[in-house]
Amino acid sequence: MGSDIEIEGLVFEAGDDDRDALAGRLAARERAVSADLIEDDLALDRSLRPKRLGDYLGQAKVKESLAILIEAARGRGDVVDHILFSGPPGLGKTTLAQVVANEVGASIRTTSGPAIERTGDLAAILTNLEEGDVLFIDEIHRLNRMVEEVLYPALEDFALDIVVGKGPAARSIRLDIPRFTLIGATTRTGLLTGPLRDRFGIAFRLAYYTPEELASIVRRSASILGVDIEEEGALEVARRSRGTPRLANRLLKRVRDWAQVRGDGAITEDVAAQALSFFEVDDLGLDAVDNRILELLCVQFSGRPVGLTTLSSALSEDPDSVEDVYEPYLMQQGLMVRTPKGRQATARAWEHLGLIAPEGVA
Ligand SMILES: Nc1ncnc2c1ncn2[C@@H]1O[C@H](COP(=O)(O)OP(=O)(O)OP(=O)(O)O)[C@@H](O)[C@H]1O
Ligand SMILES: [Mg+2]
Repeated sequence: MGSDIEIEGLVFEAGDDDRDALAGRLAARERAVSADLIEDDLALDRSLRPKRLGDYLGQAKVKESLAILIEAARGRGDVVDHILFSGPPGLGKTTLAQVVANEVGASIRTTSGPAIERTGDLAAILTNLEEGDVLFIDEIHRLNRMVEEVLYPALEDFALDIVVGKGPAARSIRLDIPRFTLIGATTRTGLLTGPLRDRFGIAFRLAYYTPEELASIVRRSASILGVDIEEEGALEVARRSRGTPRLANRLLKRVRDWAQVRGDGAITEDVAAQALSFFEVDDLGLDAVDNRILELLCVQFSGRPVGLTTLSSALSEDPDSVEDVYEPYLMQQGLMVRTPKGRQATARAWEHLGLIAPEGVA
């Protein structure tokens, strides 16, 4: 198993260390009266996370391909080929890595691109693996080049090339390492170098979930949490979850709270809709930041194309999160387009804000 990480005296399981979740936990910690509360929340997140392919809902094609990959490797008595998962945050990349490890009965060692600073760090990880282990590298597009070059022979030949000695006496020796499966995750495939991308046996791009798929995730989570939810209630939460399971689970918890305090605990369509409006999630699942982006594009910049840097600074958000977190969903919903001149709101965005689109806006 991977090592645990300790932050401000709290120990987190390394398998749960995605950036977003940690940031959320730290923010929550400031509000929490005691660390126990956070431990409860962590345990809750862990209990909602699917462990086997059968609990992982949606992404049918990805699951089917993975099942074939796993069964074929098992039949040959070989390790599973290296796998790359890409897609927006919260769609289940980390979860899938753990699911694959569970399905093959392997241990998983979790780390991330920025955490491996020196080639020696990677060498230490690789030599400590055991035959058949899964090595999960999150944010793999952020590996530095030197480290990446050490990874190449490890992926291709399960070998490490180590330089011993200095100056003219220096020579390179090749060290065998255990056969393992690398699972990489990235929100930005575009930033992956060609040589690294080519060394994955297979790459999956996770798509946003349909409302029906999300509704089944909401129902599964509700039953784990012991929450009483109607079919239509689950669908309402699903429709407003931006195609993202992490958000669906988060909204479900908020709706549960609301239903408990303002209602009788049961989540009907009406209760879900009222609760979500209360938490400022609108009927397209857009939150305050999404709506602010549309407002900026339509009103402040009068519908003209706007560059990413200009837009990000107007929002006080960093360009990476605007590009990775907010824009993909706005584009998928047909509310925004990227043109060579910049970002532009579509007619649907104007309509969503209750405004009349200027002439010529598609
Ligand atoms: N297919 C699924 N079925 C059920 N629950 C899911 C599914 N995918 C994700 N989840 C839930 O959503 C949460 C977020 O998923 P996960 O952490 O795997 O996302 P991620 O793609 O790794 O995000 P990030 O890019 O931020 O690291 C998980 O804790 C899990 O509970
Ligand atoms: Mg993750």
